[in-house]
Amino acid sequence: MADTPDFHLYQHKGFYFISGIHSAEELDKLKDCEIRDTDIFTITYPKSGTIWMQQILSLIDAKGDLSVTDKQLTSEQVPWLELTENAKNFASAPSPRVRVSHLTYYFAPQGLGQKKGKVIYVARNPKDVLVSYYHFHKVAVMLETPKDFNEFFDKFMEGRVCGSCWFDHITGWYTHKDEMNFLYLTYEEMIQDLKAAVLKICSFLGKQLDEQQIDSVVKHCTFKQMKTNPNANYESVPGSLLNHKNGAFMRKGTVGDWKNHLTVAQNEMFDQVFQERMRDVPLKFVWDI
Ligand code: A3P
Repeated sequence: MADTPDFHLYQHKGFYFISGIHSAEELDKLKDCEIRDTDIFTITYPKSGTIWMQQILSLIDAKGDLSVTDKQLTSEQVPWLELTENAKNFASAPSPRVRVSHLTYYFAPQGLGQKKGKVIYVARNPKDVLVSYYHFHKVAVMLETPKDFNEFFDKFMEGRVCGSCWFDHITGWYTHKDEMNFLYLTYEEMIQDLKAAVLKICSFLGKQLDEQQIDSVVKHCTFKQMKTNPNANYESVPGSLLNHKNGAFMRKGTVGDWKNHLTVAQNEMFDQVFQERMRDVPLKFVWDI
């Protein structure tokens, strides 16, 4: 572990990032970075189905051919915008620039608001996000292992995690959606009808795939398939970054796991905060299936 960077959360402009992964200087430059019509950004709060979208987008591009996409980690096929090296190279990267990002709207390149590029925002019900993030904190070496679920619950509610506050994230992006080419999707609708979601994404991106190609995309993007896909599970990522013994990246893939974790009091508190923070944002979530 001698050469493991000193990962820790730090605050920049009121948002939380990880030292050794995110450079404040590079993050600041993204705002003024020129956006091209061909740019595509998938925006998620952590644990909302980012890897799922990375798999879907790369397979759509490969017209459903897994042998094309299966040569590298799923996360490398649709790279992270905000990782320091990627952010540094973004301006000069060739088109089409297809990226995923957890950035809050504050850091969004301004060109998006002039209807340049396309944004796919994937949201997941935040109680399941919290639970998934709790388990991921035990796997990800760059994130501090929680003492217990209660401690993590408080941290999440206060937004003291990478990605910052879930409520700020979704309200920030959603309230600006009409200024952008914006597709809003939810994790739960993808669970309920993955094919419909893939068709929606193709239509938004202007991709024309035949029925067989669409079916192939869907087949390789189910939880069952991705769970056994080493690239989707980050299996080749070393133990200095992901502690695979503490759990798989593709963990459970369900809706409603929060019921196995939150106490009645925590759930009531969550509902109260949700009502207050989402008062002006007309979004409904599926909490259980
Ligand atoms: P769980 O921990 O609840 O299982 P992200 O990529 O944003 O970190 O999100 C990871 C979460 O999405 C994990 O949730 C993971 O299992 C789930 N996920 C990834 N691919 C999925 C799929 N094809 N179907 C359902 N859930 C999926």
